[in-house]
Amino acid sequence: MKIIMLGAPGAGKGTQAKMLAAKYDIPHISTGDIFRANIKNGTPLGEKAKEYMDKGLLVPDELVVDLVIDRFKNPDCEKGYILDGFPRTIPQAKALTEALEKIGEKVDFAINVEVPDENIIRRMSGRRACVGCGATYHIKYNPTKVENICDACGKELILRDDDKPETVEKRLNVYHEQTQPLIAYYTEQGILKEVDGTVDMNVVFDAIVDILGE
Ligand code: AP5
Repeated sequence: MKIIMLGAPGAGKGTQAKMLAAKYDIPHISTGDIFRANIKNGTPLGEKAKEYMDKGLLVPDELVVDLVIDRFKNPDCEKGYILDGFPRTIPQAKALTEALEKIGEKVDFAINVEVPDENIIRRMSGRRACVGCGATYHIKYNPTKVENICDACGKELILRDDDKPETVEKRLNVYHEQTQPLIAYYTEQGILKEVDGTVDMNVVFDAIVDILGE
């Protein structure tokens, strides 16, 4: 099963993608996580990506597309995968469609997690990310057992650089301009499904599982 998670920054794509990856035993491929790992490791790709990410801008398509398409060659992708944060522009979506067509495959579902902008700003200021394993929490909606310490690996939690309110606003504008058009693109392909992302995260999860099947 090949799934794309769509939605504004902070809509809950990553939260749901992790839960779905565990349920269906397929990898969660997050381009944001790949870039953050590269930044942490000081790679040339990370250095380039950071310039854009810190400003709330998208990393150029040419730095993203091959990276993701190469990732599909990994044996863990045999049963499918969940794409989180990719594609994010029409050229990325077209590149994905073409790459899959070449090997006789296609995406099965594009799930749009719908959350209004007002809720997003509130959510992002409360999000905390683990410096060790990248797990994400929310100080109110998904708190850790011990304040500021990751439940999974015991490392410290931080506010992501791009979660500062002024950068979140920029990211939302970029989302509306460059990523929202993908909703029409996947509607035309007949694979778009909408879920309400404003409700409790377990309720969102159940709604997605209803769409994908047990
Ligand atoms: P990326 O990491 O993909 O960020 P994003 O899309 O902006 O998404 P987020 O990770 O911010 O949010 P999310 O929807 O996953 O929400 P989450 O589950 O964490 O990308 C970062 C940057 O990298 C981009 O800005 C860009 O520069 C670059 N980049 C990445 N991919 C790219 C690409 N393909 N092309 C070009 N550039 C690219 O949830 C948010 C918070 O809400 C959490 O605290 C969570 O606990 C909480 N929460 C989740 N669900 C609920 C709920 N139902 N109720 C209450 N709280 C909830």
